[in-house]
Amino acid sequence: MAATATAAAPVAVGAELEKALEGLESGLASVVQSIASSVAEISASLRTMEFDEAGSTNSFGDDQLQADIHADEIIFKHLRSCPAVASASSEEQSDILPMSQQQQPGQGYSVAFDPLDGSSIFDANFAVGSIFGVWPGSTPLGQTGRDQVAAAYSVYGPRTLLVLAVPSGSRAAAGGSQPQHCDAAQQQQQDGQQQQQHGSISEAFDVLEFVLSDRRWRLRRVHTKLGDKNNVAPANIRAAAGNEAYQQLLHAWITNGCKLRYSGGMVPDVHHMLAKGGGVFCNPKSATAPAKLRLLYECAPVALVVEAAGGVSHDGQGSILDLVINDTGARSIIALGSAPQVAQCLDAMRGA
Ligand code: AHG
Ligand code: MN
Ligand code: MN
Ligand code: MN
Repeated sequence: MAATATAAAPVAVGAELEKALEGLESGLASVVQSIASSVAEISASLRTMEFDEAGSTNSFGDDQLQADIHADEIIFKHLRSCPAVASASSEEQSDILPMSQQQQPGQGYSVAFDPLDGSSIFDANFAVGSIFGVWPGSTPLGQTGRDQVAAAYSVYGPRTLLVLAVPSGSRAAAGGSQPQHCDAAQQQQQDGQQQQQHGSISEAFDVLEFVLSDRRWRLRRVHTKLGDKNNVAPANIRAAAGNEAYQQLLHAWITNGCKLRYSGGMVPDVHHMLAKGGGVFCNPKSATAPAKLRLLYECAPVALVVEAAGGVSHDGQGSILDLVINDTGARSIIALGSAPQVAQCLDAMRGA
């Protein structure tokens, strides 16, 4: 059985993270600190976590690992102890649960999270992650991804990273080191409307990447302008059998010498793109291989991070951030990344 999430050694958030959050509304800063603390605790837990299944399924029909449940418990524990969190729900526990008695209806923040993204590759000891979206008020339902006030993901690899999209201004406050700016590659904008849309998100949010170092979060770099490198992550490749446009896209990628970079985990694949200065994570569907990724727990938060980093997100019709979240169980197809590469995916996204 998975160990119950109990008190762990306190994790110092670190002066650089504290400084980055100084400009935020105090309640929101405390929510982000809770997220950072939960990620640090999960990171330590994963080192000794059993690989075994829990013998249960979640509301999406996924077989749960002990690690899914343990990470879920850790995050709920941290969110419960944060008075600014009004409610929370997760991929593993998708009822929207009230968290703090101190919030009046409509006040505080609602957090939606995927505690462990990539549980199907956990057994192979690949990098996995956690995903967080933060909405104003007591529920994300009825809101869109664009309504998020912050989003984050973590990557548990050789090092533990925390990538935060927080309202801009935080970057200016985040002193203490000279972060590397990942804006070297030129981004060719092909769609004026898209540029305007994602431009506003990239201006409204900063994307800060922290690395956990000796139990402290150290600012590593700031992602400001996603480039257009040809790193392509063709997710749900089985959809190509029933989606001719996706088959053609795969063929074009191969003949054009793109680098195929699919690990089987959305978080590490998307982070690979940010780390390398561009690319695309493309997850279309077919009649027999439907959309898998959850709008609330996976697509909307990661889309906010990618758009804030100067990229785009798309479901074939428009930005993922414009989809209204009506149901915690909603799923979506998704393409995320550099504008030109995402534009190449649109026929595949609209196919089948
Ligand atoms: P989760 O582990 O949270 O259930 O989600 C995993 C997701 C995502 O990370 C990945 O892109 C996708 O599942 C892979 O699905 P398949 O292995 O079914 O292709
Ligand atoms: Mn799952
Ligand atoms: Mn996931
Ligand atoms: Mn998960």
